[in-house]
Amino acid sequence: MNEINQQSVTVASPATVANIVCGFDILGFAINEPEDTFTLTICEEPGVTIINEDNFNLPTIAEDNVSGAALLAFLEAVPEIKGFKLESNKQIKPGSGIGSSAASAAGAVVAANYLMNNRFTPLELVRFAMVGEKVASGVKHADNIAPAIFGGVTLIRSIFPLDIIPIDAPHLYVTIVHPQIEVRTADARQILKQNVLLKDAIKQWGNIAGLVAGFIQHDYDLISRSLEDVIIEPVRSILIPSFYEIKQKCKEAGALGGGISGSGPSIFMLSKTRAIAENVENIMKEIYNKIGLSYYTHATTINQQGVRIVNK
Ligand code: HSE
Repeated sequence: MNEINQQSVTVASPATVANIVCGFDILGFAINEPEDTFTLTICEEPGVTIINEDNFNLPTIAEDNVSGAALLAFLEAVPEIKGFKLESNKQIKPGSGIGSSAASAAGAVVAANYLMNNRFTPLELVRFAMVGEKVASGVKHADNIAPAIFGGVTLIRSIFPLDIIPIDAPHLYVTIVHPQIEVRTADARQILKQNVLLKDAIKQWGNIAGLVAGFIQHDYDLISRSLEDVIIEPVRSILIPSFYEIKQKCKEAGALGGGISGSGPSIFMLSKTRAIAENVENIMKEIYNKIGLSYYTHATTINQQGVRIVNK
């Protein structure tokens, strides 16, 4: 069980939507598109050698690189391995709000674990990956990493100690629009208020409980009613052009609801059918075309698998 499985593996690591509107830092789900790919190879050179095969110019010093920092944490737990070479081919743009850093950290540690015969549990992998996430946002949060590793919808009940609960959910279509502006997670956290009114906390608790119950009971109306955020969205929405117009028009077109994806600037909407999700995508495009802002969109579904091995 402790031996090395093989020398090299390629994995695909999914984008993720953190918070799911009301569950700041505690809820997230993985999506089927876009995804990053990473090839990890065991090598004799100590530490982590990073080769970027994309155009994002991410740091190649391991300690400053999200994947690198996560792999260094992993290496500390496997003294028989000296080092890794990581070839990184990212599609998920950093600062997009769909879990770019989590995809880097989660992909790297799942690949490393595969090479080590899956020695560590998914929960232990989340712990390694969080070291990488801290490099990106300054804090350890797991609401992108947990769904990237577990797949599906996850609840992070606690970080210290780590307590992750996979949540069953009905089939849902996810539409994402990523306006081409960059919002750094660290900045989007900095602007948040440090105190919350009790009346707002009560509303938020109701929505979080309602959303989780709605997922488990496959109750689309309850999911829709619970996609409301009275604490974070009013502050962060000022960073995202046409946020409320997009939200309102997508809901009028039949979306169950949605909001800021992670710390933004991407916006996501959940829909019951592919037709609605594609209509929502067109509405998002029209609104950003009208104001002349470039964007990417994705019409996809919830990814149930998390990071997957693509080439053994
Ligand atoms: N929960 C984190 C935040 C997610 O909203 O700051 C960052 O992607």
